[in-house]
Amino acid sequence: MEEKLSSVAKTLKPSPIQQLSFLAQRCNAINLAEGFPDFPAPPHIKEAAVSAINSDFNQYRHVQGICENVAVKMKEMYGLDVNPLTDIVICCGQSEAFAATMFAIIDEGDEVILFDPSYETYDTCIRLAGGVPVYVGLDPPLWTLDSDKLEKSFTVKTKALVLNSPHNPTGKVFTMDELEIIAGACKRRDVLVVTDEVYEHIIFDKERHVSLASLPEMQSRTIITSSLSKTFSVTGWRIGWAIAPPCIASAIRNIHIKITDSAPAPFQEAALTALRSPPDYFNSLRSDYESKRDYIFNLLQKVGFKVQFKPQGSVFVFAELPGSCSLSDIEFVEELIKQAGVVAVPGSGFFHTNSSSAEYVSGQYIRFAFCKSQDTLAAAALKISGLVDETGNLKLF
Ligand SMILES: Cc1ncc(COP(=O)(O)O)c(C=O)c1O
Repeated sequence: MEEKLSSVAKTLKPSPIQQLSFLAQRCNAINLAEGFPDFPAPPHIKEAAVSAINSDFNQYRHVQGICENVAVKMKEMYGLDVNPLTDIVICCGQSEAFAATMFAIIDEGDEVILFDPSYETYDTCIRLAGGVPVYVGLDPPLWTLDSDKLEKSFTVKTKALVLNSPHNPTGKVFTMDELEIIAGACKRRDVLVVTDEVYEHIIFDKERHVSLASLPEMQSRTIITSSLSKTFSVTGWRIGWAIAPPCIASAIRNIHIKITDSAPAPFQEAALTALRSPPDYFNSLRSDYESKRDYIFNLLQKVGFKVQFKPQGSVFVFAELPGSCSLSDIEFVEELIKQAGVVAVPGSGFFHTNSSSAEYVSGQYIRFAFCKSQDTLAAAALKISGLVDETGNLKLF
C-alpha cells in the first residue's frame, strides 16, 4: 500500500520523541518533553469558553472581534498599523496559519530559507506545499547568525525565509543586528518573511520582543503567525492567526476556509476575553516563566550538562551533553526515562541534514521543556539529582 502514498508522506517518520513516548508512558515518566503546560489555564478565559458553549456559540463561526483585538495589540506592542478587516486571518493555531501561508505563497520548487536547528513542523509544511527547505546553521554555543552563511543560502529560487524568535528549541531571541541583517537580505532580494512569534510574551531578563515586520519597509513583505497557545496555556484550543498584506491574507483566508472552515467557535469567543487580559497577566506570565527557566537551567548546570546558552525566551532549555558522555542524545533520553523516570527530547530531531551546522552539533543536545508546574519541576529535579554519583557526576555519562 505504501506506493499509494504521496512522495512527501512517504518521507514522514515518527519523530524521536514519538518513538520514545511509548517507553515514557510505560515508565510513567515525568514529562519535560512536550511544549505544553501541565498547569491550569487562567480561570478568566476558561469561564469565557464555558459561557460561550452555554450561549450556543457552537456553529461554524468567524469572530471578527478577534481581528480587532489582534490589530490593537499589534499597534500597542510593535507600532504596526494592521487593518482588521483585510490583513488578519483567524486560523486553528499557529500551525494551521503557517501551513496555509505555505500553500498561499509557495509554488513547486520554490526555496524557503530556515535556521537550523528549527521547530520540526516547518519542514513538512514547506515540502507539502512543493517547496524546498534550505537550512542556514546557527552557530553554537550562542546560536548566532553568520551573515555570510545567510547570504550564500539565497538563490534565484528563494521565495521566503522563516524566522522563529523566541526560538524553539534553543530559547534564542534574535538580536536587533541579526534582525537587520535578515531584513536587509530579504529586501535586497525581494523575498517574503514568515515569522513564528508564538513565544512573543515569554521573553526574559527585561528583553523585549521585536516583530521583524516593525523594521523599516518590512511589514509589506512579512507574514506574521502567532497564537493563543503559549501565552494563555491553551495549546488545545487551536486559536491562532496570520497577519499579512491584504492580497496574501486573502489567499490564506481562502485556504483556511477550504481546509477547516473556521477555528473552534467557543474558543474564538473566549479569545476575545484572553486578548483583553490586563498588563498584569502578561507581566506575571513572564516572571513565572523566568523563575521556571532559572530553576531548570541551574539544575542542569549543577548535574553536569554544558548549558552555555541561557534561554532568553520560549519554554525550553537546549542543554549540551558533556564531551565525556558516550551516549547519543537518543540513547541518553532512553536512559533518562529508564533510570530517572523523566522524559526530554533528543536534540537531533531539530537538526537537518542539509544544514551548515548539522554535522558537528546534531546528536549532542537534549531539549527540556519547563512549561510545567513547580511541583512537576521539583519532582523532575529530585529524580535527575538522584542520578548524581559521589563524585558529583551524572551516572548516565
Ligand atoms: C515555535 C513553535 N511554533 C508553533 C507551535 C505550535 O503553535 P500552535 O499551538 O499555535 O499551533 C509550537 C508548539 O510547540 C512552537 O514551539
